[in-house]
Amino acid sequence: MRISDPKILGGLAKLDVELRQGTSLAELTSLGIGGTTDLLRIKKHESIPCLLRLLDDGGVPHKFLGGGSNLLVGDSELPWVVLQLVAPEPDIVLEGNLAHVDAAADLGRTVTYCAKNDLGGMEGLIGVPGTVGGALRMNAGAYGMQIGTYVREVKLYRAAERKLETLRGHQISFEYRHTSFAPDDMMLSVTLELPSNPFHEILKGIRICNEKRRASQPLGQKSAGCIFKNPPGASAGRMIDELGLKGHSFGDARVSDRHANFFVNAGKASAKDMLALIADVRERVQKAFGVELENEVVVWNA
Ligand code: EPU
Repeated sequence: MRISDPKILGGLAKLDVELRQGTSLAELTSLGIGGTTDLLRIKKHESIPCLLRLLDDGGVPHKFLGGGSNLLVGDSELPWVVLQLVAPEPDIVLEGNLAHVDAAADLGRTVTYCAKNDLGGMEGLIGVPGTVGGALRMNAGAYGMQIGTYVREVKLYRAAERKLETLRGHQISFEYRHTSFAPDDMMLSVTLELPSNPFHEILKGIRICNEKRRASQPLGQKSAGCIFKNPPGASAGRMIDELGLKGHSFGDARVSDRHANFFVNAGKASAKDMLALIADVRERVQKAFGVELENEVVVWNA
């Protein structure tokens, strides 16, 4: 979708929102799949309520993009524009055991920055691509930890009420790859309370998680992490593997040879290919195990 209304274009300039016309979402997502649309880059959280009013009044649908690492976007020209936060400088500020982190901050860099300052707890998230905001929204986790455990406060834009709001940790529920945030809430910043631990101790944990991840996941390939959530008490990857589906493909969308719950873009996969692969694998698992796998990947299909 292209913004051409002069009133909106003028409003964007006034709000200091950068417009990147005709941006390819394939370049902003770890799967390397997605059509084109206008990208709006937001430099100040305070401008968000006015920006959203401007877009709503002008009839411009929109979606919020984090790091694009858990996302499958439709092909061709997309019928909505995309909003993305630009991380401020600095994007992480420490205060004792508290880390105040902008939602646009890179997750891996946040984990290492905190570790270097003797703040641990998030070792399991090393190697998880994406932003802190994206990790927060999904309650990202690995190797027995999840980010929600450490959340003390979240600043967000509440789309339903059209206002900026601050929530305390206890007002948010964090479950397995799920939170109580509304789908259109936009994460802006978070305060994490992290346990003190000397850097060399945290580093040991980071190295262990890194090794486990390298040994079991297709890190160098284009993917969105795990495609399906694990059903209670089972592993989606193991079930897909047991069906002999590693390497199974539709076009260039392929079940990873390394981890069967990672679907990779092995070349020029389209969203259509990837969605066909997801539907096919879901159906085969349903037939064989009687389990309906739920997507972990977020799908923005036009
Ligand atoms: N397994 C297979 N074949 C496979 C993949 C896995 O037999 O192709 C077996 C493994 O050998 C293991 C079991 O299945 O016995 C579980 O596998 P793994 O330890 O890799 O964990 P997972 O359940 O597949 C979860 C998360 C990952 C996270 C890892 C490590 C989900 C959907 N996945 O994977 O998170 O990195 O544990 O904690 O919760 C993600 O969320 O995108 C993600 C990759």
